[in-house]
Amino acid sequence: MQYGYFDDEAKEYVVTRPDTPSSWSNYLGSTEYGAVITNNAGGYGFYKSGAQGRFMRLRFNSVPMDQPGRYFYLRDMQSGDYWSASWQPVGKPLDSYKSECRHGTAYTKITSEYSGIESETKYYVPLGQTFEYWRLKLTNKSSSPRKIRAFTYCEFTNQWNTTQDQVNLQYSIFIVKGQKTSPNMIQVISHENLYEQHKKNPAVTDYMSEWMALAGSPVTGFDTSRQSFIGTYGSYKEPAAVVEGCCYNSEAFGDNACGTLQTDIELAPGESKEILVMLGIGAAEEEGKKALAEFGTIERADLEFDKLVKNWHEKLGSFKAVTPDEDINHTVNVWGLYNCLITFAWSRAASLVYNGERDGLGYRDSVQDILGVSAAIPEQAEERLVRLLSGQFSNGGALPVIGKDFVPGKQKMIDAGEFRSDDCQWFFNAVPCFVAETGKLDFYNRIVPYADQGEATVYGHLKQALLFNLERMGADGLPCGLLADWNDCLKLGYHGESLFVAFQLRLGLTTYADISERLNKSEEAAWALSEREKLDANIQKKCWDGKWFVWAIAEDGTVYGTHSIDEGQIYFNTQVWSVLSGAATPEQQKLCLESVKEKLATPYGLMLCAPPFVHADREIMSSVVFLPGIKENAGIFNHTQGWGVIAEIMNGNGDRAYEYCKAALPAAYNDRAEVRQSEPYVIGQTTYSTYSKRPGNTRVSWLSGAATWNYYSITQYMLGIRPQYDGLLVDPCIKHDWDSFSVERRWRNMNISIEVKNPSRVCRGIESLEVDGKKLDSVLVPVDLLHDGSRIIAVMGKNALPVRNQRM
Ligand code: NOJ
Repeated sequence: MQYGYFDDEAKEYVVTRPDTPSSWSNYLGSTEYGAVITNNAGGYGFYKSGAQGRFMRLRFNSVPMDQPGRYFYLRDMQSGDYWSASWQPVGKPLDSYKSECRHGTAYTKITSEYSGIESETKYYVPLGQTFEYWRLKLTNKSSSPRKIRAFTYCEFTNQWNTTQDQVNLQYSIFIVKGQKTSPNMIQVISHENLYEQHKKNPAVTDYMSEWMALAGSPVTGFDTSRQSFIGTYGSYKEPAAVVEGCCYNSEAFGDNACGTLQTDIELAPGESKEILVMLGIGAAEEEGKKALAEFGTIERADLEFDKLVKNWHEKLGSFKAVTPDEDINHTVNVWGLYNCLITFAWSRAASLVYNGERDGLGYRDSVQDILGVSAAIPEQAEERLVRLLSGQFSNGGALPVIGKDFVPGKQKMIDAGEFRSDDCQWFFNAVPCFVAETGKLDFYNRIVPYADQGEATVYGHLKQALLFNLERMGADGLPCGLLADWNDCLKLGYHGESLFVAFQLRLGLTTYADISERLNKSEEAAWALSEREKLDANIQKKCWDGKWFVWAIAEDGTVYGTHSIDEGQIYFNTQVWSVLSGAATPEQQKLCLESVKEKLATPYGLMLCAPPFVHADREIMSSVVFLPGIKENAGIFNHTQGWGVIAEIMNGNGDRAYEYCKAALPAAYNDRAEVRQSEPYVIGQTTYSTYSKRPGNTRVSWLSGAATWNYYSITQYMLGIRPQYDGLLVDPCIKHDWDSFSVERRWRNMNISIEVKNPSRVCRGIESLEVDGKKLDSVLVPVDLLHDGSRIIAVMGKNALPVRNQRM
């Protein structure tokens, strides 16, 4: 079933049927003032923090999953009929109610037509502001004059702490107050104990107050009491004021507050009128009045919209591609990167699934997020990378979550058992990616403090990361699993050994050796390579299982992920990372990848392990709590799919890489959206596998490590445009029947166009390559040959030029 289509020209996804299988969401605003909005205008808003700064309420995990939201109710004052400008919450029958939602880059537009009235709403937050616009344009499409009354609605929280707001009613319903402060503005204030609030979240230092204003039409009524507007036995579908036709001019005094302004719009046949609603943080008399005076006209709102769109489209312009595959095009040109940027901004904090409690930067995920955004927002990536490096302790391990109040150098050392074994190894992916992107080799010499004490160069931080794991080896000479490796559910015991981290460490040692050579530190390079040799020997001695690599070794010596056991017999990560790290021999690589294909591939993606756990000891394999075929228990963990794609590409298997990529690609499900159920334009954390009763269903949209690896594996490996320290590598690995593709890449402030032709229909191999007419004898285009506007033409073929890859 298809519910919409991609409009890449406008960089929008257009929902044409509002009864989507789940609420399909988008993000507005910035990390200062953020919002989630769905295709039916449901959602919520928050200031600085999804959990601690929640000012607009959403009932999580409810039915539908996105109510309330940002609503306009429309009432025909002649007939008494009413509806909403988004299909829900009134939900008129779809044979008489037409609707289209355009989710764009930090804005959402919903157009509807019912009873001869067309409505167009547009929601966005102007750049750098702490208020949002809700625009409403009505057009009379009928042949008679119409009198329409419009009512706004949103529900405010009583406490900025979202959990407290929902549960601590003995306190919270006695602190909220609403009033009309001027002819066109209302205000809601919570008299929360602000001192307590500040102590809990230093990020939210302002007092709690919201205002809502209307411009372009007089206010003819208002409500700030939810109970008045909705009615004791009313609902969002049938709010009392709308049913009866008039607001009550209620001033909330305790209980719950809402934002309702009423206005009357008369329309001659064919006539259109537009009004502007503004909703923001602060006091109505101060911030509200100021914002209204400066921004409260349609002209200004238009200007702000244009600025917003330009800003986002510029970021998305860092990589553009035209390939024979439309799904890849939608992903690369708009949604893949937009997903990465939103994930980078919000980490794992706020969505329809994350209620905000996961505030701050989860360490491993945030380091990986850098890979997806370095080309689009290099300055912000650098700032984030430095913050993450400063979250590393002087012993080389990382603080698991960097909170908003984290101050480098002042962090108390955590208990040994709290460290995750993989956290700092991700630097060996993220840092070289950032340096190769920007050309800032000197970044390795930048001094960054440690979390607890002391400081080191970035290069020094990398060395500490290696030492952290090298100094924590188990009985077989493999890195200890500590509290967890990448897999949150793996509890091997502190001294249990993680083969996944062993592969990470191997990649780290290789990468460190390469950086050391570049920095003229040959002794360090030699040290890293000799450590790698020892590690390789230990890996080979203990971990090869005949057709694949084992998973891990628990503290008591039990080996997981081996052919002789029934549950979790094979683990995906160790197969693909044996390839990514270069640890596996060519023969082992082939066997591992065949085993993945045979035992883990499904039409919806690659399972994390198989068969699922049913009887396992939950103290070790805590994934056994998940139903078989989901999440870490033999589900398709989308975070890992890109690794499968890259591993196949490293073996030159473009066809299989493409097959894996498409199996998990949201856009590829657009015409059968009921399979995934979630948005076809964004990734989800996990997909039910064929071991479950609902294969293909995808959950936890938007915020996931899947965003980065999906985008990164396509742009840097499949299309193969991979920045290196001293040049741009052109090394695609594609489906063999692609005849050509082209890319426009922004790299180090140069716009470079790359055209790749594939007359021999191969998966991999560039036979000839020229830059601005000059032929090269390698596929690494040296940086000094490039300038803004450079044009690279590459022809694929069987007699491939050598590839000198300098980083993963
Ligand atoms: C989700 C977590 O955010 C991520 O850090 C972890 O690697 C995966 N789960 C796998 O357990």
